[in-house]
Amino acid sequence: MRILITGAKGQLGTELRRQLEQGGCTIGEVPKRFRNATVVAIDLEELDLTDKYAVKEYLRNGSFDIVFNCAAYTNVDGCESHREDAYRVNALAPLFLAEACEKTETQLFHVSTDYVFPGTEETPRTEYDVPCPISVYGKTKYAGELYVRDNCSRYFIIRTAWLYGSGKNFVRTILRVAKEKGKVTVVNDQFGNPTSAVDLAYHMLKIADSAPYGLYHGTNNGVCSWYDFAKEFVALAGIDAEVLPCTTAEYPTPTKRPAYSALDNLALRATVGDEFRPWQEAIREYIETLKKEGTL
Ligand SMILES: NC(=O)c1ccc[n+]([C@@H]2O[C@H](COP(=O)([O-])OP(=O)(O)OC[C@H]3O[C@@H](n4cnc5c(N)ncnc54)[C@H](OP(=O)(O)O)[C@@H]3O)[C@@H](O)[C@H]2O)c1
Repeated sequence: MRILITGAKGQLGTELRRQLEQGGCTIGEVPKRFRNATVVAIDLEELDLTDKYAVKEYLRNGSFDIVFNCAAYTNVDGCESHREDAYRVNALAPLFLAEACEKTETQLFHVSTDYVFPGTEETPRTEYDVPCPISVYGKTKYAGELYVRDNCSRYFIIRTAWLYGSGKNFVRTILRVAKEKGKVTVVNDQFGNPTSAVDLAYHMLKIADSAPYGLYHGTNNGVCSWYDFAKEFVALAGIDAEVLPCTTAEYPTPTKRPAYSALDNLALRATVGDEFRPWQEAIREYIETLKKEGTL
């Protein structure tokens, strides 16, 4: 079994690699099929996924059984000002991977986002709801989904949300500001599902092992606002800081973001029969990990 992870230096790529190398995580073991696999973990320096011919060549020579594509242009505001780069990485790269996987009879596991939805309805979106993204990030990610779906017969796509793992993310930013300033203001009118990279990687491996090809939603259970989320983890971290709510209008960003982008993991429940943990459990474990690492 040969596994390729792209975007291996990112939050999700790092965690997938860790679980495959360590044989599991706190939630459970890596499925048998992937144990003792050869894992090739690459990022931009090794292969630029926007280079069609390089991707084709890499897949042809690699003899991989499955590719986990964790690479993306994830800077949501950056996508607005660098539309072409966003399109290349979020849409064309998955297309090139899909074509190369089809040619080499390789499975492709691609990752997408809750931002494919506009966030105008206040119930969690299922896999059969119709996307209508409102940002360049969401639009380019949705184009990537379609390219994968239309060009590769052995595909999985998982849409996740509000991801945190290793490296830079919302949790670490808020913790730093709270510690430095003793006060942090966070938007209280955007709702979603905070999701741990540990939980996402674990469920992706289970899906790849036993679920039918197709589209999945994959987020920790439960819906909250960014403010609710921040309040919870600042308290768990034991930081003596005030967490204050504000509105999106009071904290303008270059990108229009969905007001309610929660996802329902319907396909996962119906096929594998699995549930993600509640987001509160997952963030507790993450904060404990930061404490143990001494990086809090
Ligand atoms: N982060 C979130 O909150 C969130 C929410 C919903 C969905 N997602 C999706 O989840 C997946 C994983 O996200 P993440 O947070 O782990 O991402 P991440 O930490 O930003 O990592 C993405 C990786 O992809 C690499 N990359 C960028 N352009 C590339 C290219 N042309 N060729 C090869 N590699 C390239 C990046 O390298 P550089 O750093 O050098 O650019 C980076 O190492 C993505 O598909 C993302 O859209 C994320």
